[in-house]
Amino acid sequence: MGDFEFVLLKPEDVEDEWQEWYEAEHTKYYTRGGRKISVEELRISVQKGLESGDMFTYGIQEQQNKRVIGTVKIGPIDSVHGLADLAVLIGDKQFLGKGLAPLIISKASELAFKKHQVRKLHSGILERNIPSIKAYTRAGWIVEGVLRNHYVNDGLTQDWLIISRFNPALNSKDIPTGHSVPPESFYPNK
Ligand SMILES: CC(C)(COP(=O)(O)OP(=O)(O)OC[C@H]1O[C@@H](n2cnc3c(N)ncnc32)[C@H](O)[C@@H]1OP(=O)(O)O)[C@@H](O)C(=O)NCCC(=O)NCCS
Repeated sequence: MGDFEFVLLKPEDVEDEWQEWYEAEHTKYYTRGGRKISVEELRISVQKGLESGDMFTYGIQEQQNKRVIGTVKIGPIDSVHGLADLAVLIGDKQFLGKGLAPLIISKASELAFKKHQVRKLHSGILERNIPSIKAYTRAGWIVEGVLRNHYVNDGLTQDWLIISRFNPALNSKDIPTGHSVPPESFYPNK
């Protein structure tokens, strides 16, 4: 179950069946406002990324049946500052809750650092997306800041956690490695 590879997606690799990923309960915090993505939108985004060369969408391919079970998006890459966003989504429910997410995020971070020469990865998480907070921080990312009551998702205002991970090969050793706010404070009783 834990064996997976990343395959760079082309628009024609995106399957219609993946639509159920975006309709599922567990992906409701994937977009800030809770908007559902469509597979057609994913195809367009994959195509645009390939054309611009600053956004790479990888399929997470499990190695037993060679099926794509989710995606990792690296980009947009800002080459002036060496920055990129990294967003992970495990769509196939069979692979959720198995502790796979931190492994995927670690491996995808290495890919961004080594292949795409990213100096600093960053992303944002809604406070109610506890599986995501756990997964990224278990993969060595830090909570660098918190914007309070920032976005409205499902009618509720939520904090927005700014998370990041520095490329150790392209940064000095004295960069901050601690959380500005403890991640556990977002899931005290969960
Ligand atoms: C974020 C994501 C990759 C995490 O994957 P996962 O398989 O759930 O992650 P893990 O198995 O490593 O960990 C799940 C943890 O969250 C907990 N959890 C799961 N659902 C939860 C919920 N609704 N409320 C509270 N905790 C929850 C589990 O108990 C587990 O905690 P534990 O290991 O301490 O027991 C996956 O949920 C996902 O793809 N979500 C949709 C896309 C998304 O939001 N991506 C992040 C964008 S910032």
